[in-house]
This record gives sequence, C-alpha cells and structure tokens, in this order.
Amino acid sequence: MALKDVLIDELRDMYSAENQLVKALPKLAKGAKNPKLKSLFAAHLEETKGQVIRLKQVFELLEEKPTGEHCNGMEGVIEEGKDALEKDEEGPSFDAGIIGAAIRTEHYEIAGYTASIEMAKTLKLTKVAALLTKNLNEELAAAKKILIAGKPILLASAKQPEKPKKPKSNKEKYSAELSREDEKKAASSLAK
Ligand SMILES: [Fe+2]
Ligand SMILES: [Fe+2]
Repeated sequence: MALKDVLIDELRDMYSAENQLVKALPKLAKGAKNPKLKSLFAAHLEETKGQVIRLKQVFELLEEKPTGEHCNGMEGVIEEGKDALEKDEEGPSFDAGIIGAAIRTEHYEIAGYTASIEMAKTLKLTKVAALLTKNLNEELAAAKKILIAGKPILLASAKQPEKPKKPKSNKEKYSAELSREDEKKAASSLAK
C-alpha cells in the first residue's frame, strides 16, 4: 500500500526531527535571557522526550523500525536557531531572535504532524492518528505559549536603541552572497 510507505517515511522524518530537538532545546533554554522563556523551553524539552516515546509506540503499532530517515528540514531549522544564538544583540532583542527560531521549529513540527495525521486517518490507522494528535496538540500549545511569553519581550526589544552596524562575519558574508543568488535565480520567473 503506497500511502503507508509515504506515512512511514514522514514518521521517520519526525522521529529524527524530535531526536534532533532533544539535543537543540537545551541550547535554546541555556541561551535565552528571559527566565519565562528559559522555563518554557525546558518544559517543552520534557514534552519532546515524551513525543519521542509516542513515536516509538506508533512504530510498534506499525511493526516498523523508527530509524531510517534523517530530517534535513529540521537540521536546517535548528541551524537557523544556532544563528539566532550567535547574534550580537542584548537582552530582549537577543530573545526576540530566539523566539523567531523557536516558532519556526514548532511550526515545522506542526506541519509534519498535520500531514501524517491526515495520512493515518485515510489509512484508518485510528490508534496511530490518536498518538500523533497528542504530539500535534503539544506543538500547537508550545507555539502559543512562546508567542504569549514573547509579547512583553518583543515590546521591550522595540524600546531598545538600534546598534551601530558592524562589519559582517565570513558566515554572514557567505549567507548574503547566497541570498543574492536566490534573488537572481527567481528574477526571470518574477518578470513573467
Ligand atoms: Fe516535538
Ligand atoms: Fe515542539
């Protein structure tokens, strides 16, 4: 059955994504300046460990092994988070970057679970869909909590004075070069 194969691939991707987050979330918790944000990331780390267990249960139900796919998407999203942790900003403005990175990870997970739940429901895999829905609901709640905790942080960040521009690092220069290439490649399609 083809859809089942697609679902298993999706779930292996999610399993890799969650495992990557088990390693990445402590870095966000450590990096964040705001104590509320710190505790949210620490609490979501515990939830994430539970999500890994639920995914293992899903694979048991499917009689398949959970490994086999590395989630490149989450690797990229976590890489963006590392950029936020390296930013030369202070206090609330530093945290504003971390909030952006955290919301990206949650919404990447939300997308993965939304798609796989639909597939599981289509295949009438009720127990699988129910377990995945538990994970999805935790991701939705986490994204919401981060936004709520983020509101006063963003307001405080908006009041911080802008910093004088510093020369770009080699990593930033390379990233800027790639972004100009992205623009160039899109130009002919945009002109149509
Ligand atoms: Fe998760
Ligand atoms: Fe999450």
